[in-house]
Amino acid sequence: MSKERTLSIIKPDAVERNLVENIKSIFIKNNLIIQDSKKIHITKDEASEFYKVHQSKPFYNELCSYLSSGPIVVMILEGENAIKSNRKLMGATNPKEAEENTIRKLYGISIDKNSVHGSDSLENAKKEIEFFFKN
Ligand code: CDP
Ligand code: MG
Repeated sequence: MSKERTLSIIKPDAVERNLVENIKSIFIKNNLIIQDSKKIHITKDEASEFYKVHQSKPFYNELCSYLSSGPIVVMILEGENAIKSNRKLMGATNPKEAEENTIRKLYGISIDKNSVHGSDSLENAKKEIEFFFKN
């Protein structure tokens, strides 16, 4: 077990439906501390930079338009195995395939409007935290 930090994003579909506090309470109940949190509205260029790993995917353009389409909440979560723990709480990318009681099962609308983002590795967590929280 090791203490880690990961980046979580509450995407526009969930912010718009007033789900920020519900989603935050799931993290808190599951021992992930919200170290920092801010509501921002990023540009499409910023979204394209953030999602650069997906630039060859067919859904890249729509994904970047979507993430920049409205306010989002970006957070640093800290806890034991925070990266895996957050991914488990999020559930599968497609809400239809997500396990019961995961955030995406509870709140996700579709594979693109799936309510949350979470870093997938230690290396990406570091990069993504730096991306949104560089001082
Ligand atoms: O977010 P996660 O790590 O679970 O999935 P990903 O494979 O890294 O994809 C990033 C995001 O692209 C997803 O969360 C979806 O919002 C979106 N996506 C999509 O719109 N259509 C797909 N076929 C796959 C992913
Ligand atoms: Mg991913």
